This record gives sequence, C-alpha cells and structure tokens, in this order.
Amino acid sequence: MKLTVTSTLALLLILSGCSQGRKEERKVERQAFGQTADGTPVELYTLTNSKGVRVAITNYGGIVVSLFTPDRNGNLGDIVLGFDRLEDYLQRHPYFGCIIGRYGNRIGKGRFTLDGVEYKLAQNNGENHLHGGLVGFDKKVWKAREFVDAEGQRLELRYTSPDSEEGYPGNLDVTVTYSLNEQNQLRIDYLATTDKPTIVNLTNHSYFNLAGEGDILGHLLRLNADYFTPVDAGLIPTGELRPVKGTPFDFTEPTPIGARIEQDDEQLRFGRGYDHNFVLRGGGGSLAEAAEVYEPKTGRVLRVLTTEPGVQFYTGNFLDGSLRGKYGRVYYRRTGFCLETQHFPDSPNKPNFPSTVLRPGQAYRSTTIYEFSAR
Ligand code: GLA
Repeated sequence: MKLTVTSTLALLLILSGCSQGRKEERKVERQAFGQTADGTPVELYTLTNSKGVRVAITNYGGIVVSLFTPDRNGNLGDIVLGFDRLEDYLQRHPYFGCIIGRYGNRIGKGRFTLDGVEYKLAQNNGENHLHGGLVGFDKKVWKAREFVDAEGQRLELRYTSPDSEEGYPGNLDVTVTYSLNEQNQLRIDYLATTDKPTIVNLTNHSYFNLAGEGDILGHLLRLNADYFTPVDAGLIPTGELRPVKGTPFDFTEPTPIGARIEQDDEQLRFGRGYDHNFVLRGGGGSLAEAAEVYEPKTGRVLRVLTTEPGVQFYTGNFLDGSLRGKYGRVYYRRTGFCLETQHFPDSPNKPNFPSTVLRPGQAYRSTTIYEFSAR
C-alpha cells in the first residue's frame, strides 16, 4: 500500500496524539529494514505497551534501534543512541544497542585454556579479544518470532553459532527474548546450550541518554556495588576486587556521572573515563537491582535489574563526533552511557572470578530488566 502525503500526515497526527498519554494498543509490528551485503532481508520489530512505551529492535545483531519512554510530563523521547537505517549499522560502529556474544567484554591476549586445551580467539582490540571477535553476535542475522502473551509484547531471536566460530569451541544454540510489559520494563532473557565445553557471557550494549541529547555527565548514577575490578592499560582486569570507598568509583549514593570523571586517577586514565566492571552486591544468580540512573531535567529514571554478578559501566569515552545518528545528532564523547550486565571481563583467565564455563547438558540463563519511569 502506498501512503499519500495527506494520509501519512494524518497518521503522524494520530500517532503524536497517542503519545500525549492516550491509551495505546499493546502490539508488535514488523516492517522491512533493508538487507545485508549478501542480500539477506532484515526486519524491524516495534513492541508497544498500553502506556505508549515503545521499543524498535532489528533482527540484525538484535539491535535496539529506538526506545521511547515518557519524561515527567508524559512526553515520549528516544533514550538510546543509534541510527535510522540498516546501512549505518552495517558500517563500523561502537556496538550501539547490540546483543554481544559469545563473550561480552575482553579476554586477555584472546586466549584461554579449558579442560587443558588452549583456544585462540580473534585479537580485535589491540592484543585482546573484545565482544565476541571480528564478526560477533552483533553482526549476525537472527531468526525472529514475534508474539504477544501474558508477559507482554515479545521478540524471540535465535542464532546457532557453529563450532569454532571466532575460535570458540562447541555449537552454541542461543535464544534471546526481548519482552516489553505493562510495568514499563524491557526484559531481556538469554538462553544458551552447547555440545562441547565452552565459555559464554552475553549482554546488550545499548547506549542510553535519558535526556535524549547532550552529554550524560549530569545524569545521577547509583550502583549497587562496593567493589570494582581495576584494569591494566589494555583494560584487562588485574584480578583484584578493589573497594570503591574513597575512590571516584563510589556510586553507592546517587552521584552525577561527571562529578569525578576528570580526576587524576590511574583507573580513569586507563579507561579515558569510566569503562569498568562493577561487582554487584547481589552476587548474581537471582534477579537483583544493579543500578538506577536519574536525569534531573526530564525526570527520567532507568533502573537496571539483573541475574548477573557484574555490570560494565562505560561512559562513551571512545565516541568522537565522527558518527551522526538518529535526528541528525552527532555522537560526541560521553553523549551516552552503557550498563552492560555481565560476568567479569577475562573470567576464563581469572580463576577467582565467577565461572563463565558452559558444559553440554547445562543451560546458560541470564536475565536483565531495564525499567523506565519518571519523577
Ligand atoms: C565496551 C568496552 C569499551 C568499548 C566499547 C565500544 O563497552 O568496554 O572499552 O570498546 O565497548 O566502543
């Protein structure tokens, strides 16, 4: 069907009317989003709840493309960084909104030993392995199925990573399910099984900006973490769990992200800002609150809950103004932050960190909830 300009305008008016607090229909919509270089078609799925919160996710990389949540006056705004077009996601970009696998974050020298066998992974971040390698889960076309049930509006994404892909052992079957419910929660459930002993650590790499524009330095962050894992110059953890108390890493009380980011601190220098794993109080295993972020101008609040033992707090230090995203916005340094729920970086080489080993017959399960409100 071809929409005329007037019918498009009318549609836009109806849609903007809906965003003014009127009740929305709970639904999942599917539309074409282009194709990859080899001609594989890619779709964009939009999940909407009755409050008007809506999230658009593509089955290319499982990327969260847009996420509209209300501010304290009920105005919807897009709170994630990203692009309008698939073409831009096909170019190099810093993992905007992606599903990351098989191993989120870094593995030192791209090497690990499991059951006495040494495995070599792609070294795609200096001498280290980062975010699953050269072609990680962020660049795969996932099999998608959308549905609505009691849990909310849902998108189930499936991908089978073949044995040896990017150097990892075992065929890994992965299912990632996004659900948007009536409590304004976007929930991500990860499930993986393998046919050989392997390692796995999945996450989502959304960059948030709760004001929708500008830098994120004025956002107030609270992290339920008394320890963080300090790193070396290559951002590989040293193995130490260091108390946050008395350091710029203490976010146990709500603190502006920018309050101490420029302090003369070796860890901040290594990360060019925050790019560190925090050890969550909950310890992982059951769902617990990891973080809350509050943006004073709009009143938007993001709460993060997870079953993971850690979260990577990253302040967009490598954004450099070279990318132009949605609404023509240029992504300068620190215009977005990530809270990547995870097992700790380099766990396969750190016997004192919680294990990331998955064996045949076991199931890797992980859940993270991003909850949106305003005050
Ligand atoms: C992760 C890493 C950062 C950076 C970004 C992508 O969050 O920890 O160092 O590589 O991904 O730019």
